[in-house]
Amino acid sequence: MSLSVELENLAGQFEKELAATSSPEDLEALRVAFMGRKGRLAALMALLGQAPPEERPALGRRANEIKKLFQDLLEGRAAVLRRPAAAAEFFDPSLPGRLPAQGSLHPITLVMNEICALLERIGFEVVSGPEAETDFHNFTALNFPEEHPARAMQDTLYLGGDTLLRTHTSPVQVRAMLEYKKPPLAVIVPGKVYRRDSDLTHTPMFHQIEGLLVDKSVSLADLRGTLAYFARSLFGREVRTRFRPSFFPFTEVSAEVDISCILCGGKGHRGGENCRVCKGAGWLEILGSGMVHPNVFKAVGFDSECTGFAFGLGVERVAMLKYGIGDLRLLFENDVRFLAQFA
Ligand code: DAH
Repeated sequence: MSLSVELENLAGQFEKELAATSSPEDLEALRVAFMGRKGRLAALMALLGQAPPEERPALGRRANEIKKLFQDLLEGRAAVLRRPAAAAEFFDPSLPGRLPAQGSLHPITLVMNEICALLERIGFEVVSGPEAETDFHNFTALNFPEEHPARAMQDTLYLGGDTLLRTHTSPVQVRAMLEYKKPPLAVIVPGKVYRRDSDLTHTPMFHQIEGLLVDKSVSLADLRGTLAYFARSLFGREVRTRFRPSFFPFTEVSAEVDISCILCGGKGHRGGENCRVCKGAGWLEILGSGMVHPNVFKAVGFDSECTGFAFGLGVERVAMLKYGIGDLRLLFENDVRFLAQFA
């Protein structure tokens, strides 16, 4: 075999063995075997003297090229072996990126934020109070006398002693007035409330928003105007409100407030059938309200000149109406397929 062919064979061998190396030690062994002083390239060069004189310059040049090639290949392979294994894996930079999964706010949170924002816009301040509450704040100061049957209106979870889980956000009215010491004040209180109640349409924990405004010469007209603004902002300009006489110990007068049905517009029917949202009534009850009872002012040390109004609403109910949610339980199951729709 001619020296020239042997040189090319050697180059081929080198590349094959180089591909099989997996460590710096392998590389060093390969270098010594092929390029060392007693290596295979040196052995071929030693034969150069036996080649025909006219071929020697070309053979010499080729041998040097091959030596340079071996050096370059060794360096390249060393760089590949230094790279961490993961990075050496195939990476396609033209693939579209993977977006991180994004969460969304819970519909209850969305509705609470919206209601707070629209009442803050007309001057109410957001305040909060404890969920474990005293009997005094939850009942007595709100004009529920001890042993009075009005307390049975709310099935209470007692914690022992004088404490209980608040059954409504109204105790924060008492806390706010004690803190302000005198009028004027206008506060809203979003928060969790608890009752011993659990069925298809009641959960032991739910959310309310309380509103309280106290000043001199506040009238029922102020309450009506505020709640009309509230209903139109939340459900749309065309929504009408109506007051129905009711009873709450902490207000006198007391009213339940209805809005015209947001599905049928108050007609009670759609396409010859009873409206499925208002069940034909044309109205939907959305909150309780009234003028603050003088006994409540007395309990917090406000003078008898004070006047004010208060209202309280259930957030779950508003969320169900607003988003057309038919089943209360959807709000508590935390099924991501449901929640993702509010993103
Ligand atoms: N606290 C009442 C409830 O939980 C709701 C309520 C009614 C709050 C009338 C008020 C009000 O402030 O004036 O059922």
